[in-house]
Amino acid sequence: MSATAEVLDQLLETSVVGSFTRVGYDARRRLFHWAPPSSMLEKSVLITGATSGLGLESAITMAHLGASVYFVARDEPRARAAREQILAASASGVVEYFIADMSDLHSVRDVADRLLARTDRLDVLVHNAGAIAPTLTFAPDGVEVTLAAQLLGPFLLTQLLLPRLRAAAPGKVLTVSSGGMYSQRFDIGRLTKGVEPYDGVKTYARVKRALVVVNHEWARRIPASEVVFATMHPGWVDTPGVRSSLPRFHRVMGPLLRSSAQGADTIIWLAADAELASRDGDFWLDRRVRSEYKVPRTRATNPTADQVELWEWCSVRTSPPESPPL
Ligand SMILES: NC(=O)c1ccc[n+]([C@@H]2O[C@H](COP(=O)([O-])OP(=O)(O)OC[C@H]3O[C@@H](n4cnc5c(N)ncnc54)[C@H](OP(=O)(O)O)[C@@H]3O)[C@@H](O)[C@H]2O)c1
Repeated sequence: MSATAEVLDQLLETSVVGSFTRVGYDARRRLFHWAPPSSMLEKSVLITGATSGLGLESAITMAHLGASVYFVARDEPRARAAREQILAASASGVVEYFIADMSDLHSVRDVADRLLARTDRLDVLVHNAGAIAPTLTFAPDGVEVTLAAQLLGPFLLTQLLLPRLRAAAPGKVLTVSSGGMYSQRFDIGRLTKGVEPYDGVKTYARVKRALVVVNHEWARRIPASEVVFATMHPGWVDTPGVRSSLPRFHRVMGPLLRSSAQGADTIIWLAADAELASRDGDFWLDRRVRSEYKVPRTRATNPTADQVELWEWCSVRTSPPESPPL
């Protein structure tokens, strides 16, 4: 790794726009001579939100690399269309989907049951499904939908699939966060109380920060020899999600946005190549561990206390409801 490449990488990272756009991706790919991802033959992956954007791109590429691909989708016709595309690229011929809305903990439990019955090993779990909710909406159990779909649903799925991830020793759990999280300081009170008046972008950014916090606690609780954990952010990517949720941003950034393949590169690399044991719990962009803070006021004063508190909150909120009284 040359010193010049290191300095240029750091300059890009400082500039934000340089780092998050395709400029950063292209420069780093060349500076660090990235190799194409390795074969994933004999590996099995479960990806949430594989009907579109980064999830679809990751699923297609991992299928092409030989992985058996399972995915979670919330809409049957979209799932069927995605399966056709993934299958067309697949080297293993194993592509299956499970219908679930990640905000609905019942359907998340159902997916886990079906996957546990389907396979005795899961090498990689990718928590990718995500969206900005334009209006205040509640999940079936009464939690705000962003928090439910992007924090509680993934937390529960991880917990239920641990036996299969452990069987891959080490299994990998990869979570797609967002550079938007840099704007928010973690605060469990604020996270769980919600933004008033409702602001979808801020709510999303807080949840994406929370994902990075809870990821550290997973890494602290589970030995790296059994399951390793990583969060990443993809930069700014031209996906259907960005086009519909942030149309002005999409118009202004236009040609500078990354392609889905560029945004998904680090997800695929973490899944196929990265040796994560010594970096368990870290946060990545463009195949490198990155700082979790860009703004001093967002820095945690006691990160371990935050992560323990959040993990325990998630654990309580995702415990099975008590049986109704007879
Ligand atoms: N694009 C970017 O610049 C960017 C930047 C930072 C982070 N991210 C993150 O990257 C991930 C993928 O986003 P994307 O840009 O690829 O967006 P996208 O094109 O809208 O894809 C999002 C995927 O998630 C699924 N999904 C959303 N909510 C779900 C739920 N409650 N249950 C099940 N599936 C759900 C969507 O399903 P449907 O097809 O049914 O809608 C879709 O498959 C998200 O976590 C996002 O926050 C993206």
